[in-house]
Amino acid sequence: MANEHDDLILLTGATGFLGGAVAVELMRQRQGDRLLLMVRGADAASAYARVTSQLRRLGAPEESLRRLRPAQILLASLERVESIAGDTRLARVGVAIHCAAHASFTAHPAMGALNVDASVILAHLLQRYAPLRRFVYIGTAMACGNRQPAGSDISESAALPLDERAHLVPYTHSKAVCELLLRKMAPALPLVVLRPSIVVGHTRLGCAPSASIYWVFRAWRALGASVAELRQKIDVVPVDWCAAAVAAAALRPEWKHELLHLSAGAQRSCSFADIDAELARAAGESPGAYGILPPERLPELLPRIRERLPDCNPRLMLRALRLYGGFARLGYTFDNRAMQEAGIPPPPPLTRYIGLCAQSVAHQPVSQQMAWDFK
Ligand SMILES: NC(=O)c1ccc[n+]([C@@H]2O[C@H](COP(=O)([O-])OP(=O)(O)OC[C@H]3O[C@@H](n4cnc5c(N)ncnc54)[C@H](OP(=O)(O)O)[C@@H]3O)[C@@H](O)[C@H]2O)c1
Repeated sequence: MANEHDDLILLTGATGFLGGAVAVELMRQRQGDRLLLMVRGADAASAYARVTSQLRRLGAPEESLRRLRPAQILLASLERVESIAGDTRLARVGVAIHCAAHASFTAHPAMGALNVDASVILAHLLQRYAPLRRFVYIGTAMACGNRQPAGSDISESAALPLDERAHLVPYTHSKAVCELLLRKMAPALPLVVLRPSIVVGHTRLGCAPSASIYWVFRAWRALGASVAELRQKIDVVPVDWCAAAVAAAALRPEWKHELLHLSAGAQRSCSFADIDAELARAAGESPGAYGILPPERLPELLPRIRERLPDCNPRLMLRALRLYGGFARLGYTFDNRAMQEAGIPPPPPLTRYIGLCAQSVAHQPVSQQMAWDFK
């Protein structure tokens, strides 16, 4: 894609799932030479090695990887993001894409410092030292909290619940607070907030790059149980589609949209029944029979977890099912009309590529797949 700019694109989170896919997409669009990758590590060489192995896993062409230079690493952690202040390369950063976060449903004592404070400091530093044209913040659609009725089609609203009790986990709360603080504490920031829904798999690589969240569908199926009704929908998008949408918002010269869901929306979100049917087809089996349990009865599944998922830590699995089940029961879909008006085509439905996800990690035990989300 032709681009009129040649200033640098600062990307955080490139060793992760979505950030890595964004880097690969930018390389695909021949923007790889413009990347400045903020990565943590003991030194630039180990950070560079970690990034390249993640980008290779996400399908980066070898030629693009060869062109990526160690000098494109900006060594910093979210804990000490202010350490980048003296770096002269900031003077060439026109676009920032902030993907890095402690993206976990389990509590972390430094969640606020990592997901909120570091983002605000990064924004302030870039405003001070860089000729910044656009700051793309990767939020999350679930920053909307859990107070809307189950099955709602959620529209984008800048007003997010700040009360922790309106969130299922501290992570989504931290993402809501971050958005609001970026607007409040950096009002002149050229901010674009993108809120992906749930990112699962890759349309060509399946779950080979990451089985994050995919294993939850597999576990429900193995256990023949769910906390969500099978007719309920879940809003899921593939990582490569999401990365292309992020790249469009970052690179397009004209961009008027300050806040967008990146989502399947009500139309392309799939029901659990449809997802199960596709998983069954991929395995050459019949669709599953599911018992629907309220969350407080999940402990009844412990013997079944031990029997059917013997490689998994039963208590950890139970905790995971409770956490992920909480989101599944909400059955939210995220309105994406604004996204489509911005010229971003809707994603393929999960049922179109979940068979590939299943094949790509068929021999990997669920416990190994869970490790993507319980690091
Ligand atoms: N995955 C989803 O379903 C989803 C949905 C909506 C929104 N999002 C958002 O998308 C973004 C990326 O999520 P993801 O799923 O790709 O997460 P991920 O795979 O866990 O990647 C997180 C990235 O953040 C970096 N990071 C974490 N802690 C750090 C620290 N203390 N210092 C420096 N870097 C740090 C990680 O670097 P290391 O490799 O060094 O740990 C990694 O590159 C997040 O902002 C998340 O909120 C994700």
